[in-house]
Amino acid sequence: MSATCVIGLQWGDEAKGKIVDLLTAQSDIVVRYQGGANAGHTVVFGGVKYKLSLIPSGIFRPEVKSVVASGVVVDPEAILGEIERLRDSGVEIEKNLLISDRAHVIFPWHKEEDRLMNDSGVRSEAIGTTMRGIGPCYRDKVGRSTAIRIGDLYRPDFPEKVRKICALKNRSLPGMAPTDEVRETVKPLDAEKIVADYTSYAERLKPFVGDVVNYLLDAVDANKKMLLEGAQGSLLDVDYGTFPYVTSSNSSGVGVIAGSGLPATFIKRVVGIVKAYTTRVGGGPFPTELKNDVGQRIRDRGNEYGTVTRRPRRCGWFDAVAARYTSRLGGATELSVMLLDVLSGFEEVNICVAYELDGKRITYFPSDVDDLARVVPIYETLPGWSEEIDGVTSYDDLPTNAKNYLERLSQVVGKPVSIVSVGPSREQTIVRNL
Ligand code: GDP
Ligand code: IMO
Ligand code: MG
Repeated sequence: MSATCVIGLQWGDEAKGKIVDLLTAQSDIVVRYQGGANAGHTVVFGGVKYKLSLIPSGIFRPEVKSVVASGVVVDPEAILGEIERLRDSGVEIEKNLLISDRAHVIFPWHKEEDRLMNDSGVRSEAIGTTMRGIGPCYRDKVGRSTAIRIGDLYRPDFPEKVRKICALKNRSLPGMAPTDEVRETVKPLDAEKIVADYTSYAERLKPFVGDVVNYLLDAVDANKKMLLEGAQGSLLDVDYGTFPYVTSSNSSGVGVIAGSGLPATFIKRVVGIVKAYTTRVGGGPFPTELKNDVGQRIRDRGNEYGTVTRRPRRCGWFDAVAARYTSRLGGATELSVMLLDVLSGFEEVNICVAYELDGKRITYFPSDVDDLARVVPIYETLPGWSEEIDGVTSYDDLPTNAKNYLERLSQVVGKPVSIVSVGPSREQTIVRNL
């Protein structure tokens, strides 16, 4: 009995989807356990690119069950759209998808609150959320009194609950607007339309909804192999990331247990996913960010534009201080280094091995976001490699300087590199140890 987790160790978009798809081949069940439609995971095989948001990236293997567990916040319209798109591409979904009745539901008021609160004016910089209603839905979950779970959609009191929540939200929404100008844009919620829309969504989702906790605990007893798919990245974790510039769930390794309901002792392997460099979307400090031609070159070569919002991703050198912190936090047993091909052609490549904070060299990741905003990265410079490597299939065939880069990166982070990715497609993966 065992489970493997795939966790992003940076600020998201580390190419978790690609590795989940790859490792699904050895699994019986794949589980998404936190986040929601803020995630955009990409899987490429057979020359086709698939984008997934709420549905686990294991869905392409018909023999594997894909589970949306209790810690996910589900936008019914978004997941139904995804189901339709997958069906249209010929993916068998009917028997393969299970959605937790305990998962919380995103409603139109959550998206409206996200829009109003994103730039509250309390801090100088906006969080820059994906506007998918994620934070407000998790806030209602913890607050309890105005939360609705998937299972509640099927209860007779559902319409009445929606009407009561709409009445409350219609009073609170205008008060959330940071300015009078924004307040003018707040439109009242139409409770009857929401009831009708969500009753219809609930009907269409019904074949997939069930008690995921029991299902997973039975699978533990039956010695099934599970793969747990993290969304976002560890530095966006609400407790251990760059707060408040984070998402509203535990997106580091600490979230696996709470989100899935699986026992901690079941987790045997934790694959920490990192890009060979660093990216970030949205606001917040990013010590190794390159606001210059080098950053633009990484963006162009890596096609670094958001999967969900198409925003240009901020790009910078590999930050080994941050990755060491998150890989230790999540108990990573190994690293999977992604998009190494993007770094071909640079004369020199840099790894951030320490920070300078107020004149002092530090190797820990500061807990305070203002400290992190002030640190100056200390780089180790290594020679680059000119060869394109997107066709390389074995580790030994990588250019010597690329291997040296990986080895140094692994040394500073303190974890072995078991997978190296040199292109978006399934085949463009060098597996050293699976
Ligand atoms: P996720 O959110 O962690 O699943 O990552 P995203 O899908 O948002 O972003 C990763 C992007 O990199 C996707 O467009 C992938 O197709 C692409 N990708 C994955 N691995 C590689 C790689 O090794 N090289 C290149 N050039 N692109 C890759
Ligand atoms: P995947 O799973 C990258 C970022 C947003 C914003 C912050 C809060 O594809 O790696 P939210 O909408 O969650 O309240 O936004 O988190 N963010 C992501 N960045 N990849 C993601 O997911 C992200 N999900 C949220 O840009 O800065
Ligand atoms: Mg993504």
